[in-house]
Amino acid sequence: MATRSKLVAGNWKMHGSTAQNRDLLDAIVSRTAWLEKASIAVAVPYPYLWQAQSILANTHVSWGAQNVSQYEKGAYTGEVSAAMLVDFGCRYAIVGHSERRALFGEDSHTVALKFRAAQAAGLTPILCIGETLDQRETGVTEQVVAEQLDAVIELTGVNALSSSVLAYEPVWAIGTGKTATPQQAQDVHAFIRSRIAAHDPAVSAKLRVLYGGSVKASNAAELFCMPDIDGGLIGGASLVADEFVAICNAAKN
Ligand code: 13P
Repeated sequence: MATRSKLVAGNWKMHGSTAQNRDLLDAIVSRTAWLEKASIAVAVPYPYLWQAQSILANTHVSWGAQNVSQYEKGAYTGEVSAAMLVDFGCRYAIVGHSERRALFGEDSHTVALKFRAAQAAGLTPILCIGETLDQRETGVTEQVVAEQLDAVIELTGVNALSSSVLAYEPVWAIGTGKTATPQQAQDVHAFIRSRIAAHDPAVSAKLRVLYGGSVKASNAAELFCMPDIDGGLIGGASLVADEFVAICNAAKN
């Protein structure tokens, strides 16, 4: 069994201001400095990448973006390239968040192109996959998650997953306060890992698979102790210093 260190990543979504961000980032840095085993990251809105870089450079906290263009450069008004994210010191880029898929029309192939563009520039993609409530209720969770995963494996090859992070985020648990039970999450994480293992067991054993969807200080520990859950992708609770610090704390073992 490979030992995988935990990662807790905050996804701020479209929240923040320079004043709020400063307080939050200062609190995260100063109150998690003693955590040795868990890695910590924040994915901030593009305009605040400079601020994340200036506050977090030379700390133990990494930063990244919530999206990235699938294109390298050129006439793509409004897009932000992976090289630009690298220019601001990003380590991570989230790709395929369900809000991007549902609200901005990103299909699994586009997500795979974004994944590839991020890696080509030296970023670590955090690939989000997950089913809607309707899909869960009709029993197609595994097919949905498999299709989202396979699109990336087909485009990049399974080895590319070794320098990435996955996040299983059931859409019905995002921002709803309705968390998957640790066993529900574990079942899908184990499925994801077994699907990757069918291509390459070594890649599967090393890959970090985060859980996301209404993770809070009060439920983080029970999720993070499941064998195939390697940390969390945190939305709402990542905006509250006490909550986020407590979640990082729950990941330290
Ligand atoms: P919440 O933690 O607010 O449910 O959001 C989860 C999420 O979408 C993280 O990417």
